[in-house]
Amino acid sequence: MSGKPITVDDFEEHAKYFLKKSVYDYYRSGAEDQQTLADNVAAFSRYRLYPRVLRDVSITDLSTTILGQRVSMPICVGATAMQRMAHPDGETATVRACKALGTGMMLSSWATSTIEEVAEAAPDSIRWMQLYIYKDRNLTKSLVKRAERQGYKGIFLTVDTPYLGRRLDDVRNRFQLPPHLRMKNFDSEDLAFSSKQGYGDDSGLAVYVSQAIDASIKWDDIEWLKGLTSLPIVAKGILRAEDAKEAVRHGVSGILVSNHGARQLDGVPATLDVLEEVVTAVEGKVEVYLDGGVRKGTDVLKALALGARAVFIGRPAIWGLAYQGEDGVKEVLDILREEFRLAMALTGCCSVNDIDRSLVRQNHICSKM
Ligand code: FNR
Ligand code: LAC
Repeated sequence: MSGKPITVDDFEEHAKYFLKKSVYDYYRSGAEDQQTLADNVAAFSRYRLYPRVLRDVSITDLSTTILGQRVSMPICVGATAMQRMAHPDGETATVRACKALGTGMMLSSWATSTIEEVAEAAPDSIRWMQLYIYKDRNLTKSLVKRAERQGYKGIFLTVDTPYLGRRLDDVRNRFQLPPHLRMKNFDSEDLAFSSKQGYGDDSGLAVYVSQAIDASIKWDDIEWLKGLTSLPIVAKGILRAEDAKEAVRHGVSGILVSNHGARQLDGVPATLDVLEEVVTAVEGKVEVYLDGGVRKGTDVLKALALGARAVFIGRPAIWGLAYQGEDGVKEVLDILREEFRLAMALTGCCSVNDIDRSLVRQNHICSKM
């Protein structure tokens, strides 16, 4: 790549060149044939924008609220595991970048920094905790309590991972953490996904999940979780109307429409294609967010026009981290913010409240392709 990266794709190109192959493969991969991986991105180009003009867009306000907290823009960083493989500062760099931009970060349970380190790296930052429910419920409870104590403002419960999806490169690479890193929220070698453990011939992470994560969780466990904490709960990984309604019935405060960055079940729809169904189903009772395939400012605009309150980015933040740690993540967020600002202004929107369904229409020529 020549010159400074100016798009999210430029950052990925850099990461591909500089990261160790097995690390890049882990971050990039989708499950199996990766049909959904491509579709998450392609779905955005199946919508066209219908701008309104002559509406004084000399001043634009990108801010919104998430679970009652103000963020500078409806673009936040989602949970991605093991960020210190991308840069030595890992999650502490990401949280500082988010704070600098005035937006929020969701911390993975499987971070290579502790819940406490991330809080200390950016006091008063906007943070949420992503949660996996372990077979060991006391351990799960302690993650929630630690997050609560450290000022995280919500729990994003991942509901699409009773087992890990089959990512072929990770199987071939027998993916595991490098020896100097651990999933730092856990003490024991086995729970910390330490390379001292043997994981055989498979993706080490897939083996880890089948050993440690509770595949028996069901809707009632949301009530169990609500009994542990007063923090709002968001269900991360909903893809259809009935499940969205069920989540609302069980008292969630939000729904993140997500297919886990296409890393779980290949062949599920692109998240943008099911967003409206979910938004309609919840009848405004809870906030709805989207992740998956967001790479440009116009993607953010399209998601908001179809009813998302905000979007989360996964891989783009990692590519920024790999480029230049905290500064790299800042650059990625800054590019997305300015692209989104331009998209808003060029469609006649001064604030996120001006973004409505009339701004997008499905492009039937593209969708037949
Ligand atoms: C993830 N994702 C994820 N989700 C989660 O609930 N807990 C986790 O620890 C992780 N870890 C993780 C690692 C990596 C490398 C990726 C790419 C993804 C899923 C993530 O939160 C989000 O749903 C997707 O990344 C969104 O898609 P994009 O933006 O990567 O296309
Ligand atoms: C992944 C896990 C960490 O997608 O959620 O790799």
